[in-house]
Amino acid sequence: MKDSNYASKSFSREKVFRDPVHDYIHVKDQVILDLIDTSEFQRLRRIKQLGTSSYTFHGAEHTRFNHSLGVYEVMRRIESNFSRNYPSQTEHDGLWDSQERLLVLCAALLHDIGHGPFSHTFEGIFNTDHELLTQAIITSPETEINKVLRSVSPDFPELVASVINKTYPNKQVVQLISSQIDADRMDYLLRDAYYAGVSYGTFDLTRILRVIRPFNHQIAFDYSGMHAVEDYIVSRYQMYMQVYFHPVSRGMEQILQSLFARAKECYLNADMHMKHPASLLKPFLEGNWDLQDYLRLDDHIMSSYFTHWLAEDDPILVDLAYRFVNRKPFKSIIVTKDEVVQLKTALMDELVRAGYDPDYYFSENSSYDLPYDYYRPYNTSNKTQIELVTKTNQVVELATVSPLVNALAGKVRGDYRLYFPKELLSELENTPADELNENQIMILAAYVTEHNDVTHHIQQWLF
Ligand code: NI
Repeated sequence: MKDSNYASKSFSREKVFRDPVHDYIHVKDQVILDLIDTSEFQRLRRIKQLGTSSYTFHGAEHTRFNHSLGVYEVMRRIESNFSRNYPSQTEHDGLWDSQERLLVLCAALLHDIGHGPFSHTFEGIFNTDHELLTQAIITSPETEINKVLRSVSPDFPELVASVINKTYPNKQVVQLISSQIDADRMDYLLRDAYYAGVSYGTFDLTRILRVIRPFNHQIAFDYSGMHAVEDYIVSRYQMYMQVYFHPVSRGMEQILQSLFARAKECYLNADMHMKHPASLLKPFLEGNWDLQDYLRLDDHIMSSYFTHWLAEDDPILVDLAYRFVNRKPFKSIIVTKDEVVQLKTALMDELVRAGYDPDYYFSENSSYDLPYDYYRPYNTSNKTQIELVTKTNQVVELATVSPLVNALAGKVRGDYRLYFPKELLSELENTPADELNENQIMILAAYVTEHNDVTHHIQQWLF
């Protein structure tokens, strides 16, 4: 495969992949097709993009494979537009350097390559890190991906990895992959909305791709595209509130977290002999895994272990596996910062009284998002603000001209919930009011208030 022209090797007629979001995904480069054909990339077909969200939005079964191809396609369109309309003429004109083409396409395609099954929950229990694993898959000589990238040039794997970890010197390249409006987000909002079957996430991608431009060594947007960008920000806000932070999906995630934790406990405790060895999970249960162990995992392996665990002897493991396999999410109550300590104590006491081990049947989950932020000189973790360029080349920040974006800017939104088995709630609901103790009244009141009082519910979104 090694030849000096490999980087520029292209098909006389481009290949296409049919995609419900972008119609066709166009592949012209041999390098891109070779990357898609690697075992590490094909593995993404077996990992769902949204984890437990499909328990709420049953259509959301799409995979990290679909999304990765989608981000590549959005990037391909942006790059093609930049190369045609804004090619750099002199070294310091701040326009687009077409020599970055293959690099941005590879980085877009591979940006999520380190994700595993139920990444976020898995990471919390087994100390993996999908960002570090993305870097490792790209830079370790043992992977097929590394071999393809090395054939472009010996330093190419490191360059691709540096774009994804945001250290690459050309800021335009980095911003196209990760910023407040990047190819990754443009694809996942449209794709997740499509598969979830909701209309919140939609925005005018065609228009955004027309108005996005390199400007003064940064990425900016034509002023005339302000409403398209505004719509994207609003869509993003709505997707987080309505889909990504859905309390039921999080209720399934809490079960999964307890299930992994219990499996680990059973595995490490010699008294609790497990009937099924779960051999592919063993290195993680023992805390001694390597990259190849990680690459063997996928959603299907996990779900077959969950089914095996239904037949184990440990009643907690069996119960949690049953709840996950058969979609029995934990219920939740929303809490404010002032109430949290009191409600937490009340819930723990009640769980113990009802015979549940709070280590596995109680959890806290807070989900917050900042829909948009402008540049703040004194903040340590600053976001690159979205800038619009007028016809006379003046630069304005988005929130100063969009009242809609201004209303969302700088405000963290989300909620804080306490999770517990739904049986506890049914028990309290069926207890005559005069027999309820103080804790029980408090828990029921929190649950009823959230479900009956709209103003209370809306206020909780804003912390
Ligand atoms: Ni992504």
